[in-house]
Amino acid sequence: MIQEEINRLKKAKNAVILAHYYQHADVQDIADFVGDSLELSKIAASVDAKIILFCGVDFMAQTAKILAPSKKVLLAVSTATCPMANMITTEQLRAYKMDHPDRKVVCYVNSTAGVKALSDVCVTSSNAEKIILRLKDEKLLYVPDQNLGNYLKDKYIIDMECWPGYCCIHHQLTVEQVMEARRMHKDALVLIHPEAPLAVLKQADFVGSTSQIIEFASTTSAKTYIIGTEKGILHPLQKKNPQKNFVLLTPSLSCFDMKLTRIEDVLSALQKEDTEIFVPEDIAVLARKSLQTMMEWS
Ligand code: 13P
Ligand code: SF4
Repeated sequence: MIQEEINRLKKAKNAVILAHYYQHADVQDIADFVGDSLELSKIAASVDAKIILFCGVDFMAQTAKILAPSKKVLLAVSTATCPMANMITTEQLRAYKMDHPDRKVVCYVNSTAGVKALSDVCVTSSNAEKIILRLKDEKLLYVPDQNLGNYLKDKYIIDMECWPGYCCIHHQLTVEQVMEARRMHKDALVLIHPEAPLAVLKQADFVGSTSQIIEFASTTSAKTYIIGTEKGILHPLQKKNPQKNFVLLTPSLSCFDMKLTRIEDVLSALQKEDTEIFVPEDIAVLARKSLQTMMEWS
């Protein structure tokens, strides 16, 4: 059985598998750790293993490599990328910084290593609020997710420009979908990821990262929850809460890149070790600083 062979190779090679909540259920089930972007970064930085096999998209494996430079980091499928992270280039950010030398740059973890290297501090959806509040008296640029940026700008009085990037999965959500879901499920609570547009977030009962959504649903007494984030999260939600009902806000909440990784790819990456991630040292040194500042402040 494929799972047995993966487990055998993991042991033989001293490898650990990290998977994001948006991965296929069988990939999550074979992983040693499943988590959100912040949790997986912390594990990558501290885990005792020779090889980290990442099941997710490229910026996550890059982050693992930056935080654990002495480990071999593999990305299960080397073409899996985050379209939002690619919506700002280092050239664009460099040009912006030349024109606005007074603005501190806060980058979402969904960004390339080069963009992290040009930023003052990195954030994830779990700690963005806390970190932005620390910087509330500064002039800021937030890259690349306009939606998480606009959500924080709406909540607090901050001088922050937002880069016009977006997650193609969450950006498509609409107020009408939320209203329709509420009509269909009268007593349900609506939980939405902050990568969704502000008007949609205003309709939610709870806004949070993937881990925060799981935590909220697992500690609240409602029976039914409407979920406004990528469908992979239904697996841990249902596993943790077998008595509760989880309804996806719309069936199109599926990330093409997150879903590229199949269990066969996990086996192949472990067998061949041919999908290694490298980050040039000059970029890694600077990107590590913005990630370490995040860890200190969160
Ligand atoms: P979190 O798991 O940190 O909430 O991130 C969501 C995401 O879109 C990752 O690509
Ligand atoms: Fe990027 Fe959105 Fe896919 Fe996450 S869900 S990897 S933010 S496109």
